[in-house]
Amino acid sequence: MSFEEKEPIIEKYATLSIPGKDPIKLPILKGTMGPECIDIRELGKQGYFTYDPGFTSTASTTSRLTFIDGKKGVLLYRGYPIDQLATKTDYLQVCYLLLKGELPNKEQFADFTFKVKHHTLVHNQMESLFQAFRRDSHPMAVLCGVAGALSAFYHETLDIYDPAHRENTAIRLIAKMPTLAAMSYKYSIGHPFIYPRNDLSYVANFLHMMFATPCEEYKVNPVIERALDRIFILHADHEQNASTSSVRLAGSTGANPYACIAAGIASLWGPAHGGANEACLRMLQEIGSLDKIPQYIARAKDKNDPFRLFGFGHRVYKTFDPRALVMRETCHEVLNELHITDNPALQVATELERIALSDSYFIERNLYPNVDFYSGIILNAIGIPTSMFTVIFALARTIGWISHWIEMQGSANLRLGRPRQIYMGKEVRNVKPIYRR
Ligand code: CMC
Repeated sequence: MSFEEKEPIIEKYATLSIPGKDPIKLPILKGTMGPECIDIRELGKQGYFTYDPGFTSTASTTSRLTFIDGKKGVLLYRGYPIDQLATKTDYLQVCYLLLKGELPNKEQFADFTFKVKHHTLVHNQMESLFQAFRRDSHPMAVLCGVAGALSAFYHETLDIYDPAHRENTAIRLIAKMPTLAAMSYKYSIGHPFIYPRNDLSYVANFLHMMFATPCEEYKVNPVIERALDRIFILHADHEQNASTSSVRLAGSTGANPYACIAAGIASLWGPAHGGANEACLRMLQEIGSLDKIPQYIARAKDKNDPFRLFGFGHRVYKTFDPRALVMRETCHEVLNELHITDNPALQVATELERIALSDSYFIERNLYPNVDFYSGIILNAIGIPTSMFTVIFALARTIGWISHWIEMQGSANLRLGRPRQIYMGKEVRNVKPIYRR
């Protein structure tokens, strides 16, 4: 067990009665906070599986990183409320917190920042890797590939059992993801890559690599810099969501961390998860004008139409998404700063938000604007192209993924992830050959 790792407390037991069997006693596990968990490990030994599609009632691991109370709208990283982190720290401090468990003091932070800044360059050979992609490739397709390819460049620090190698990998990932993300964008528009600048902050450097050209420097607006920093903080971790669970599942096989991060990026891409910010902005643009909103609301309510309002609803948050509250405020700050009042997508968003918050369909189902509703609007206002939205989510979530991977590799309870199934196919049958062999 790692020195920090604690086991959940057992104070009581549940008893499961199965016809024709002796009652089975199952321990009830209690963590620091949150719902109690019935430990069902004994059931497998007795020949039973549990069935939980979508894992809505299943805890796959213990973790010390992030806590969510979906009913109360609470999100904590290492115990700190997300709104405090978003207003009182910056993204690199949050990276340190997720990785190491505590916020850094000044010296620790200076050392951490120095290390991150001195790993921002990627190997020059990476540039040729980019050339292999179609020039109009979606930046997420490129990011999946190049993030996984990092494993081919760092053989010397790929011992997953060595804590120093694990930390080195985390620093490399935090440092190189903005570089790779910006390169994916520059490649997609046919511009030369812009190298990182160590005199800029983490976020300002990312904006510089995105928007500067060899012909023109990019002047960073501090309001935009702060808004993007908040977007990064709010997306940094979210407990056992689909992409983090993908990273953990891949990691449970002993796969190298860069390959695991590539699995996380692939999983994040879907529109029900991180792809929602891009899908949401495209939806707002498709709606286009206020008079078309009622027909889209009607489609969202129609059971026979697969259409959903992107940026609304959440699997875990059933009152409000605490990240969305911070994002909403930041969104207004950015729009004011940039004097944006006449953007049709933004007008549609404002009206959609008003209708959804007062319509009984959305109220009864607890469908509130989520973090991606507002982050898409901000990114659009900043001038980040829609195809880059999920890339930015991936960049910010990398710290969460690698922190989970490190926590998992250091755990005494690490086991290969291998769910079972209820088989509904054919019973055993014999092959009737169609010719003699
Ligand atoms: N628009 C219209 N109806 C919806 C929506 C929506 N966005 N989301 C859920 N519903 C309805 C759904 O049809 C169902 O209605 P009924 O009870 O009448 O059958 C009810 O609400 C419950 O939906 P569910 O599918 O059982 O809920 P879920 O927990 O499985 O889905 C979700 C969560 C996020 C996949 C879903 O709300 C959704 O597809 N939202 C749009 C995509 C989106 O914005 N995703 C980003 C989530 S935040 C970023 C992140 O953390 O990844």
